[in-house]
Amino acid sequence: LRERAIAELGPITLLSDLDEWDIRYLGRNKGELKNLSAIMPKLSKEERPVVGQRINAVKSELERQLSAKRENLKQQEMIAALEQERIDVTLPGRALPVGHMHPISRTIREVTQIFERMGFSVVQGREVETDYYNFQALNVPADHPARDMQDTFWVNPGQILLRTHTSPMQVRTMKETEPPVRVVVPGKVYRNEAVDATHEAMFHQIEGLLVDEYCTMADLKGCLERFAQELFGIDTKIRFRGSYFPFTEPSAEVDVTCSSCHGEGCRVCKYSGWLEVLGAGMVHPKLLREVGYDPTKYRGFAFGMGVERIAMLKYGLGEIRLFSGNDLRFLRQF
Ligand code: PHE
Repeated sequence: LRERAIAELGPITLLSDLDEWDIRYLGRNKGELKNLSAIMPKLSKEERPVVGQRINAVKSELERQLSAKRENLKQQEMIAALEQERIDVTLPGRALPVGHMHPISRTIREVTQIFERMGFSVVQGREVETDYYNFQALNVPADHPARDMQDTFWVNPGQILLRTHTSPMQVRTMKETEPPVRVVVPGKVYRNEAVDATHEAMFHQIEGLLVDEYCTMADLKGCLERFAQELFGIDTKIRFRGSYFPFTEPSAEVDVTCSSCHGEGCRVCKYSGWLEVLGAGMVHPKLLREVGYDPTKYRGFAFGMGVERIAMLKYGLGEIRLFSGNDLRFLRQF
């Protein structure tokens, strides 16, 4: 029995087989050693201690071997597990999904960088403004019809509002600094308008302002032409059409040649070849006086553009609401 047990123990490689072996030979119930002890009562007085000792000796020997074998198998299992689960630190890591800039942020950055290269600095204003900065200081008194041009969201009617354009920053900047002034102001603006494919109640503008001792409409034109060529391509041309803004005189609307035109049938510019992208003009002397500048000494020009509109032209889009719709299928294309 002893030899058979030991011989069977040798080739066992699984802990579960080992448990089976344990039960078969050493099991307290039907183990073979237990069965052997059953013959004890049939033996003579002299034989009993001899056989009993022999059985006990075999039992402890088998137990010793069993626990040694069990230790051994456990170690081997551990080594195998470590081998299998080993981490290959030289594998390249998994790429994390990182986002990217929103097309509006990107357009703002492109535009402001163009003006920064021309010597403008970027400043930001507040979205909640006073009637004074949004209208009065810009030569739009309380009963002025120009207020109808921009439907206002009032916080406190007649006093506090959501700015309808970035032009209040013209006044704030001039009040805070002495000429020469060269700033561009990107930011959100708000208008209480019916929302459709080309109008939203919240959108972005970029304001530009330059004030210096020598400054003419030709400087304005050259500056904007350079800007349009950098943003839309070197072949881009611009044209000025006379217009009206209360805070500039003279005022103009500025068109650029349509870069999406491939001959006839362009939907972007409706076949005309020109796209309106800017309002602009020479800073009204009333504003210069309002901020404490001497209008006989200083001139300035100002311009303002809608960022969504520029982004739509640049990317050939026909729907402004895509920008604020948070649809990743749209955003991921940029
Ligand atoms: N603030 C004007 C608008 O929102 C644009 C503009 C800015 C025009 C500066 C002239 C000069 O329509």
